Amino acid sequence: MAVRKDTIFERFLSPIIRSFIDEKKLREFYESMDWEAEGDRFRRPDLSYPHYYSSQNFHGIEGGYLNPGASVSYDPITQYVLPPNETWVRQGLIDSIKGTPRRILDLGCGTGSTTLMLKQAFPQAQVTGLDFSPYMLVMADHKANKAGLDLQWRHGNAEETGFPDASFDVVTASLLFHETPPTVSKSILQECFRLLTPGGAVLILDGNQKTIRQVEWLTEVFEEPYIKDYAAGSVDAWMGAVGFEAVQTKDLFLIHQVTHGMKPIPAEGYSARVQQVPTSTTLDDFGSEGIPAPAF
Ligand SMILES: C[S@@+](CC[C@H](N)C(=O)[O-])C[C@H]1O[C@@H](n2cnc3c(N)ncnc32)[C@H](O)[C@@H]1O
Repeated sequence: MAVRKDTIFERFLSPIIRSFIDEKKLREFYESMDWEAEGDRFRRPDLSYPHYYSSQNFHGIEGGYLNPGASVSYDPITQYVLPPNETWVRQGLIDSIKGTPRRILDLGCGTGSTTLMLKQAFPQAQVTGLDFSPYMLVMADHKANKAGLDLQWRHGNAEETGFPDASFDVVTASLLFHETPPTVSKSILQECFRLLTPGGAVLILDGNQKTIRQVEWLTEVFEEPYIKDYAAGSVDAWMGAVGFEAVQTKDLFLIHQVTHGMKPIPAEGYSARVQQVPTSTTLDDFGSEGIPAPAF
């Protein structure tokens, strides 16, 4: 788990956080797993990684999320860097979901912290987490099994998921956009639009762009190669540009934000189509038409 030493996090915060973390236990867990074999349970060999993802260190970890060590250290550190409280921040996204979605997709799910909370909040829904890193999916699956939750995991690219059109009522992404160049974030939102049923919702939880813009040193805390570009942009505007309606950003504890958008319901011909499409129970049942509008 090699790390660089030149960020505010590595110089000041990491020594404090390390004193709270049981590094011996983490190392034992890391060494107890055959990461390549476990990763192979999820790995899709046809997937190729774009330069922005495979060429950068994230949080000072060499190789970023393609280093299995990142999946072991992610949760113990994240709990200390989402004030006032990690669960409260993630709950801000869950609370913005209205109604009872039947299918939820969590993009860039990482170790599945938000994905598990989505399943706990909507136990009747089929919840899928998608991530580029097979090792993050290994951790996510491990956590789901421990919690006794039935979730689906998919090794994939959030820009091009391969799922059929209109196959989800809700698509979420937490803490993803500050790690992707804005062109990629916009293309992910385009994919969200394609994946959603009419009336379905997209929810993006991440750092508060206004605050990060105003407090320059926040961009220097972690080794985050794209955070300045993220802060200079506007998730609101990106959502509007791909066609989402009712776009709204809610501040959370000043340093986080949740942005909500709805895929518009076409005025004509929609109710007729809804009646023709049966409600299916698994993603494999979808035809090219996807599923009808969500129950909200
Ligand atoms: C900061 S982590 C956030 C993880 C999780 N959503 C959370 O809230 O803790 C960002 C995650 O996004 C994944 N990621 C980045 N770009 C991606 C892409 N284009 N497609 C899928 N996953 C991506 C990374 O592998 C990493 O697991």
